[in-house]
Amino acid sequence: MTSPPFSLQRAKEYGNVNQKDYVDWLAEFAWKIMTVLSESGSFVLDLGGAYEKGKPIRSLYNYKILIKFCEEIGFKLAEEFFWFNPSKLPSPIEWVNKRKIRTKDSVNTIWWFSRSDFPKANVKNVLVPYSERMKKLLSSGEKYYRPKLRPSGHDISENFNNDNGGAIPSNLLQIPNSESNSKYLNSCKIAGIKSHPARFPKSLPAFFIRFLTDPGDLVLDIFAGSNTTGEAAEDNGRRWIAFEENREYLAASAFRFIESFDEKELIAIYNQILGDRTISIKIPRTERQLNLF
Ligand SMILES: C[S@@+](CC[C@H](N)C(=O)[O-])C[C@H]1O[C@@H](n2cnc3c(N)ncnc32)[C@H](O)[C@@H]1O
Repeated sequence: MTSPPFSLQRAKEYGNVNQKDYVDWLAEFAWKIMTVLSESGSFVLDLGGAYEKGKPIRSLYNYKILIKFCEEIGFKLAEEFFWFNPSKLPSPIEWVNKRKIRTKDSVNTIWWFSRSDFPKANVKNVLVPYSERMKKLLSSGEKYYRPKLRPSGHDISENFNNDNGGAIPSNLLQIPNSESNSKYLNSCKIAGIKSHPARFPKSLPAFFIRFLTDPGDLVLDIFAGSNTTGEAAEDNGRRWIAFEENREYLAASAFRFIESFDEKELIAIYNQILGDRTISIKIPRTERQLNLF
């Protein structure tokens, strides 16, 4: 599961390759992922949309990535997801706010790739609450609706009145990215360290981790940033590995797993990781060992 630096026009502080080279650049990583991904494994890629430079025209880069990864590298598109983030700010200001000729772009594409046609997946692990209407139907279904053969030919009578513990989620994931009070953010504040500027919300990787892996399986984020994915994996009893090239982001990511809110202790751990030293911390919640190097 990963969210790479996006192909935006304006250079982000964590570095960006330009749009033209972006697809090829990301494909280099995808080739490597293909060599280590298990037969039943999945590769979930979150990509934000982008405009072409100076024009109110969308870049096709996320679709080019999809096609290249499937047609050249050999991934299968298991399903496409759309992450709707209602708290996203309007952008680019020129087209959306000033000239008012484009709407607010608040959806990221998330490509769920796999090696095989049947990657491990279990929707039962990610059921969502039933709608109020469905709850009513479940409590006294016969009164409201008598299932019959649908015009499409589907016979839904057999499974209709069963309470399965929740509804099947759709591929539109509505998750606000508005975290303001997490352990990670608070620790960064206490230690006086800038938090990562482009985190995704923990429920996003958590959804795919629960959906596509079992406890004990291994989750890898190759562009880990603040390591939201690692924390979601840890919360859900999965093993995980995180790669991050910026040592400052890596160092602050350790805050996710440290119980202490002591300024001196946080800064000491941060500096130790920055100092290029291997460090091992016991994660108190799970008693597992966190190794940073
Ligand atoms: C969009 S951010 C990921 C944020 C992450 N999902 C989170 O919630 O914190 C992308 C990250 O990729 C890192 N990155 C860029 N090139 C990289 C590379 N070649 N290897 C490892 N990390 C890289 C950047 O430093 C940046 O932190």
